[in-house]
Amino acid sequence: MKSQNLTRPDSSPIGVFDSGFGGLTVQRVLLNELPEYDYLYLGDSARTPYGTRSADVVLQYTVEAVEWLFRAGCPLVVLACNTATSMALRTIQMQLLPSRWPDRRVLGVVRPSVEELAELEIGALPGITPPSNAAGTVGVLGTPGTIRSNMYQEELSLLAPSIRLVQQACPMWVPLVESGELEGPGTDFFIHRYLDPLFVGTGAPKPTKLLLGCTHYPLLLPGIKRAVPSYVSVLTQGSIVARRLKDWLDRHSNMEKRLSKSSTVRFVTTDNADWFSLNGSAFLGKNFQAEKVRLT
Ligand code: DGL
Repeated sequence: MKSQNLTRPDSSPIGVFDSGFGGLTVQRVLLNELPEYDYLYLGDSARTPYGTRSADVVLQYTVEAVEWLFRAGCPLVVLACNTATSMALRTIQMQLLPSRWPDRRVLGVVRPSVEELAELEIGALPGITPPSNAAGTVGVLGTPGTIRSNMYQEELSLLAPSIRLVQQACPMWVPLVESGELEGPGTDFFIHRYLDPLFVGTGAPKPTKLLLGCTHYPLLLPGIKRAVPSYVSVLTQGSIVARRLKDWLDRHSNMEKRLSKSSTVRFVTTDNADWFSLNGSAFLGKNFQAEKVRLT
């Protein structure tokens, strides 16, 4: 990371968007795995959380954020937010881009995650035998908006209809993470509250793989791992998105050539910049200084 500021007027960074801090868990891996590119991270912290808002509002907020990133020079924007992806990506791709920004691209996090789930072999981890009814079942944890959208089920049904999907909304997890309550009895209570129902009883198949389908959730990973049976593999999205983005760029050389490559990253937020920088460092894994912007 050479610089916090993109001063070159010809810079064409990859835009990375989240409702707030969560996408920093994806940005962190992008900086490690694809370090050559310039990045512009936008966290709409003034309006977070998105996960409990209606589809119309999430669409409006996401469009405003994406258009801000386009105006800032990003040819490509990654929605590093499952809620924005689930509730806004299709409309953006099918309506906004063709009508107003035909030479720009917007990618989300749901499709790459579903591709990863579909590719992974469903079964036992080495040396550990899952319950016999567990094969072929995966789970996705997300915000109420993401789960309500049913986008994970729709995408998985298209790609791998034989895989059974269990979905669980975890409405208290984003507020816990936003408040810095990452460990402790209160947090464990809410972790168990949403996870236990997936693993009790003998009737329904149990997931052997659990995708954290919200970019805030990796900060709860230690507690989540403690709360699930040992045969369950817990997947986070940062490395999945980085790997699939690299594949996508390999297949879209025209876009890849348009992206500037000076290894810079700039962070902007719609809320207080010092507060965002201080609290965001846990998500990014290092300190940074953000700037405050207005989207409209
Ligand atoms: N990080 C966002 C996601 O991946 C959710 C946070 C929010 O509710 O705004 O869905």
